[in-house]
Amino acid sequence: MYYNSIIETIGNTPLVRLNKLNKGIKGTILVKVEYFNPGNSTKDRMALKMVEDAEKAGHLKPGGTIIEGTSGNTGMGLALTAIAKGYKCIFTMADKQSQEKINILKAVGAEVFVCPTNVEPDDPRSYYSVAKKLNREIPNSFYPNQYDNLSNTTAHYETTGPELWEQTEGKITHYVATVGTGGSMCGTAKFLKEQNDQIFTLGIDTYGSVFKKYKETGIFDENEIYPYLTEGFGEDILPKNVDFELIDQFIKVTDKDGAIMARRLSKEEGLFVGWSSGSAVFGALEYAREQLKEDDVMVILLPDHGTRYLNKVYNENWMKDHGYTETRSFASAKDIIDKKNGSGKLVSVSSDARVSEVISIFNKEGFSQLPVTDGENIIGSLIDYKILNQLLEDSSLKEKKVSEVMEKPFQFVALHNTLDVLSSFIDKNNPALLVRDEKNQVHIITKHDLLLAMTT
Ligand SMILES: Cc1ncc(COP(=O)(O)O)c(C=O)c1O
Repeated sequence: MYYNSIIETIGNTPLVRLNKLNKGIKGTILVKVEYFNPGNSTKDRMALKMVEDAEKAGHLKPGGTIIEGTSGNTGMGLALTAIAKGYKCIFTMADKQSQEKINILKAVGAEVFVCPTNVEPDDPRSYYSVAKKLNREIPNSFYPNQYDNLSNTTAHYETTGPELWEQTEGKITHYVATVGTGGSMCGTAKFLKEQNDQIFTLGIDTYGSVFKKYKETGIFDENEIYPYLTEGFGEDILPKNVDFELIDQFIKVTDKDGAIMARRLSKEEGLFVGWSSGSAVFGALEYAREQLKEDDVMVILLPDHGTRYLNKVYNENWMKDHGYTETRSFASAKDIIDKKNGSGKLVSVSSDARVSEVISIFNKEGFSQLPVTDGENIIGSLIDYKILNQLLEDSSLKEKKVSEVMEKPFQFVALHNTLDVLSSFIDKNNPALLVRDEKNQVHIITKHDLLLAMTT
């Protein structure tokens, strides 16, 4: 079996379950991994559709030139389509886009014009205006205009929507996508809501973009517009492909939260995705944490691949320069005890025991501290070096009862407390913590356990 050209491989991307980042969140969270498209993004779908519809309508004739303002991914889809079908491509891009994206488009034979980011859309220097001007000047050229060309939405209505419906066997309850041109959100949403009007759609917007406020108030607020760094979504215009009726709610995600989440998707889920995918997942999880129920099935669309962001999000120095320091996800007390001993019994010493017995336990077991019990209750603690110091002063101490030399019990912590919190309780005088599991069994967490958890 083979394909007649690369564009026949567009679509039918896999749906993958999140296993780590959704910890503590109810329901099933799946991601639609769009980098499996041949141009490594979801935009291949609409690029092909815009070209095919233009051919049918007679707007694109053999030997023609495709001209588009693109943040890179649509350009890639158009370039692959153009190669397969024998057209030329010219693209205009905003200068905030990654150099990798520009190089990639050139690699697939396109001519690229880089335009200033921080100018009004109707400024003659903007990438929207430059694309329109080239279209007027170049004969037999076609300007798809991905923002207002409804073939964009149709592509997702005809492919992404049905794929998700089939892949989830109709069980999808929530659909989440970033909103740029709006095609991948609205085309998919339209199809899904036609199958089940209860499906909830969550649009991911960014700070500096007009969508969320427009949805909530109907006001196009110019004050909402300011430069932001995330690429591909959020807009300072209202594209025709954004149908606000089909988007139930918007959440805004900061550049930083998106960047850090993209890195976590790569490291923790093995999903080497682009920046906007991080934003989509960050916003989706924020919603899911509060709202998702056990039987819910949420699908998040991940638009593109991480290679396009190697000099940004995946460059440690770039992250540091932008103040995007990662807050690590730490193991919890539960993780530590599960890993350590599962159901193992807490080793302790009775308050009636002699100090000499404690010393032999320390030596035999290699412990540095022990909880002291009185029947079921934990009433004190013993720490090896403190006993040693006392023995140096008074050797008869070894005949004394534990209750005479013990100190206050180790501190109890909550099962959900994380490594960063746990380590704040530990110092020279408090070398261990106690935690009660779901079955009411007490476990000890020592400073060595914390060190181990930090390094594994
Ligand atoms: C990286 C990236 N993320 C998100 C989007 C938003 O998708 P849509 O234009 O379908 O709203 C795009 C679109 O260009 C993109 O390139």
